[in-house]
Amino acid sequence: MRLKNRVFRSATWLAMTDESGLVNNELVNYYDQLAAGGVGTIITGITSVYERDAEVGEGAKFYDDRFIAGHRLLTDAVHRHDCRIFLQTAMIDYPVDAIPTEEVERIIAAFGDAAHRAEQAGYDGVQIHAAHFFYLSKFVSPLLNHRTDRFGGSVERRAQILLDILRDMRSKTSGTFSVIIKMNCSDRYPGGVGLEDFLTTARLLADAGIDAIEVSANGTSVAGIRAGVNEASFLPAARVLAETVSVPVILVGGLRSMDTMNGILNTTKIEYLSLSRPLIREPQLLQRWLSGDTTPARCVSCNACYQTPQHQCIFNLRKKIVND
Ligand SMILES: Cc1cc2nc3c(=O)[nH]c(=O)nc-3n(C[C@H](O)[C@H](O)[C@H](O)COP(=O)(O)O)c2cc1C
Repeated sequence: MRLKNRVFRSATWLAMTDESGLVNNELVNYYDQLAAGGVGTIITGITSVYERDAEVGEGAKFYDDRFIAGHRLLTDAVHRHDCRIFLQTAMIDYPVDAIPTEEVERIIAAFGDAAHRAEQAGYDGVQIHAAHFFYLSKFVSPLLNHRTDRFGGSVERRAQILLDILRDMRSKTSGTFSVIIKMNCSDRYPGGVGLEDFLTTARLLADAGIDAIEVSANGTSVAGIRAGVNEASFLPAARVLAETVSVPVILVGGLRSMDTMNGILNTTKIEYLSLSRPLIREPQLLQRWLSGDTTPARCVSCNACYQTPQHQCIFNLRKKIVND
């Protein structure tokens, strides 16, 4: 797959759909503007693939065929800007231990079906969301997975759900369709996933043919990131991973300046960099940098975007916030 640059827009839940979970014009327009802003690849916000899954407020859903048509409008809009787009497939929250093996298999098949639909909708690929303590990252964590069937126990067995999802997605999509994953390099809880489990799981996925691994962790949206000072929160783990596997590694979390980003690309084997909040504040950030204004991202990492309607930046509101 040809990408026009090395910068991804990391998955960002936009809270723009109604409870139907269908894509609407506002969402299409948002992605159109974002693609026009120069980023090479967009990963959509979290999109639930299982009908019985918990709700994420105003998030997109993709558990049956009626969702395809809206997504086709979205991918067409993005592709017009020579930008690639991946659907972030996810489950929000659901029992880990208290479901039978057959339901785990139904969940795996739901991810595979979503990948099939994503290809029909024109996506270049899908990302499996296994980070930030959404469902799959809980499932692979020894803190929350106490299963005694083939999906629980050793790190290899806890990783089985991810390997089965990858295999199911491959069997339901064509050879040119990409499947990538976003993972926690650390649960940031004692007894949870740490570097060793992360690397083992990532190696298994690489051997099974995953196309890229985006490195994140719990507690991702740290405040107080300052360009050139404390950027790139998960660089140490991503650097080790990139030395360990031959699939491309994408680093996300706290990247704010071209200096830091170029430094990472030039001195490590990490191949791609991913941004979320800087593009909430400045959807045109890449164009700005390309045009020669290379001052760092204006995002101050205040995390107010989590609290606003449609996760807008309080310094760059598209819509007035009305208190009710
Ligand atoms: C408003 C908001 C929504 C987010 N939604 C998602 C999401 O849907 N899926 C996901 O994997 N990460 C999500 N994230 C996390 C980002 O993708 C990213 O990992 C994190 O913000 C750190 O990167 P940054 O410093 O460039 O913002 C979200 C972050 C924000 C601020």
